[in-house]
Amino acid sequence: MANHEQAVERLKTGWTPTEEVILKRRSVRMYKKEQVPEFMVKRILEAGRFAPSAGNGQPWKFVVLREPEIIQGVTETTIQICKIFKSLIDYRIPGKRWRLPIAKLNILFKPADLHPMPFGAVTLIADRKLGLYHGAPTVIMIFKDVRGISNPDLDCGIAGQNMVLTAHSMGLGTCWVSFAKLAFQYTGKWKKRLGIQYPYKFTTSLAIGWPVGEPDAMISRPTHEVDWYENGIKTVVH
Ligand SMILES: Cc1cc2nc3c(=O)[nH]c(=O)nc-3n(C[C@H](O)[C@H](O)[C@H](O)COP(=O)(O)O)c2cc1C
Repeated sequence: MANHEQAVERLKTGWTPTEEVILKRRSVRMYKKEQVPEFMVKRILEAGRFAPSAGNGQPWKFVVLREPEIIQGVTETTIQICKIFKSLIDYRIPGKRWRLPIAKLNILFKPADLHPMPFGAVTLIADRKLGLYHGAPTVIMIFKDVRGISNPDLDCGIAGQNMVLTAHSMGLGTCWVSFAKLAFQYTGKWKKRLGIQYPYKFTTSLAIGWPVGEPDAMISRPTHEVDWYENGIKTVVH
């Protein structure tokens, strides 16, 4: 049997280790206090460094935070900004319907930030009901090089997912945390503290640590239709 035929036969018996990690990865929002060994974080960074990028431009800068004071500080700044957002535009509170036009104007100019989903999370973060880094002892921040060719956000996302999957393959937990963007977008405090300057801009961040319990597991997901063209016919598959 040819090599590729053997590979096909093997696949019929189960998932590959890579598929298992992808399918079982869940966002982890509760971490143990124990720090992640340094060498593991370095291997995670290496997986990020090996990500493909347009023109091999690698338009990213990774910043590792293992200082509770900085992680907590970014969290506090984000909470304060969420509080301001909430106080300005949360029109759902009884007696505050007059905020509706202000909210609509904001949503017009900031549709991504104030979409009902993130706005729901903004109000939870403001009320301290949703944590930012969920007690993770290590955070990797990803800053994009805005001069990156093509689409540096996409490249940073690919590098981030490489790191996330590597961390889960090691038994660690992760959670993407983009809300910390507010702390960089609306104040200069943390850019200054971390020495972030042009051409770098906060893109997203990853909480990393040992998970409490065993959150990784396969779950069902809503499926999206996929258009499939073959032999002159279009079919729709799930
Ligand atoms: C780019 C990106 C940003 C995210 N930002 C946050 C965040 O700020 N806080 C958070 O708790 N989860 C965040 N998430 C996690 C998503 O809520 C989560 O991936 C989604 O609900 C699916 O659940 P799963 O990761 O367990 O499969 C983010 C995910 C992505 C991909």
